Parts: sequence; C-alpha cells; structure tokens
Amino acid sequence: MIALGVNVDHVATIRQARYRSGPGGSSGYGEPDVLPAAIAAVRGGADCITMHLREDRRHVVDRDVEVVRRACGVKFNLEMAGTEEMCRIALAIKADQVTLVPEGRQEVTTEGGLAVAGRVEHWKKYLAPLKAAGITTSAFITPDLAQAAASAEAGFDAIELHTGAFAHAYQTGGTPLAEAAHSITRCVRELSPRVRIHAGHALNYHNTRAFVAVDGVREFVRELHIGHSIVSRAVFVGMEMAVREMRTLANHVA
Ligand code: PXP
Repeated sequence: MIALGVNVDHVATIRQARYRSGPGGSSGYGEPDVLPAAIAAVRGGADCITMHLREDRRHVVDRDVEVVRRACGVKFNLEMAGTEEMCRIALAIKADQVTLVPEGRQEVTTEGGLAVAGRVEHWKKYLAPLKAAGITTSAFITPDLAQAAASAEAGFDAIELHTGAFAHAYQTGGTPLAEAAHSITRCVRELSPRVRIHAGHALNYHNTRAFVAVDGVREFVRELHIGHSIVSRAVFVGMEMAVREMRTLANHVA
C-alpha cells in the first residue's frame, strides 16, 4: 500500500487571491480555510497532510501550519527551504516530517530538486537538530543517482523523487517516457536499502496509475505527495471524494 500525502497549499492559494494583505502580512483568516480542507482530505483517506510554508508566505501562512499540525490527526509533513527560520518553525510545531525543497522567489511551484551532491557536510549539520528532535527528514531531489546517494550520505531518512520529468514525458510517451521511468527505477532500486523512498510533483488523475506501474515503484515507494490535481478535482467533487479517488488510483494493481 502506497501512502498518500495530500498537499493542501492550493486551498490557501485561493484564499490569498482575495485576502492577501502583503508579503508576510497575511493573517490566515478568510475563505476557503485550510483546516477543514485538511480534515476532509483525512476523511477521504489521506495518510499525511503536507504544507509548504514559503519564505514569502505567498499561500500557506504560519497560522495554517500551526492549526493544521495540531488538528489534522495524521502525519504532518512540512515542506520548507533549508533556512534557519524554517528549522526553528519545524522544531516549534514538532512536525512529524520535513521535506527540504529548493525555493525560488519567482517560481510558481517548486521547480527543481535540492542540491545535495557536493553539499553533504552542509546538510549533515542542518539536519542534526531536526533528527535530534525525532523529525523524519526527506530531500526532494531529481531522480539522479548522485543526488540520491549524497542524500543518504548526508543522513536524510528519505528522498522524495521529483516526478515532474515523468509527468511531462507522460504526455508525449516514447523514448523520453522510457528514460524518465528508467531513472526512477534506478534510484528506487539502488537507494531503497538506505533510505525511504517518496515521490511527487505533477502527478494527476491521468498519470498516477502509469507512475505506480513503473518498475520498482509499487515495491519500494512508500509515500506519494500530490497537491494541485487533488485540489483542482475537489472543486468539482469535493475534497473527500477527490482524495478517495486518488488513493484508489495510487494503489491500483493492473
Ligand atoms: N512534493 C513536493 C516536494 C512539492 O514541492 C510539491 C509541490 O508543492 C508536491 C510534491 C506536489 O506537487 P503537485 O502540486 O504538482 O501535486
């Protein structure tokens, strides 16, 4: 069974489209509220709730993280940049898991993977207080063996493989899709003895079934993290149903 982490950031994106009062100045009040969305996701079978607290607080704000962490009742995964401020917040809210992501001011969503290769000592030091607090640490990386091996060496408990290239190639098929699938298979097969394997980004109701059918995925991937497509589908069928449908797809056996 692959666990499903639901990223509810885009509920906050809709709220902030109306209620934003300036960078860092948002209170987190207004509609739609993120907490009922997270609770509906849990009712639909989410095993984990993920939120990305960005440096500029463009969607999720501090209050969202605090209330959802306290009330969601399932594993809470904080996506964050590797800054001192975010480390303090993860420790203060006692996140169950943190996923370290690169963060660009101009990007619409997380675009690339974390640079771990060549920075192993930096990450070892950064992870130390988080690990001491019992927080599971995950590195969001492109499916590249050098990044994956460096993540294990730095002491990350998990790697989250960036599925953006797979999702993009899924639209055209052919060689690019075979290559994207191959790099995922190599990473999961080589790294699963050393770290937990997660995956996510741009997975949706069309490509998730193909992704879990990639060699090694069903066997080794423990968590999928999906946001945009679930929140988009929730507009039509509600959050609970959208999550239920995705959970079924993620665990579909052909
Ligand atoms: N995993 C990570 C690390 C991400 O940054 C994101 C995007 O916020 C996701 C998963 C979910 O991506 P999507 O919204 O495309 O499903």
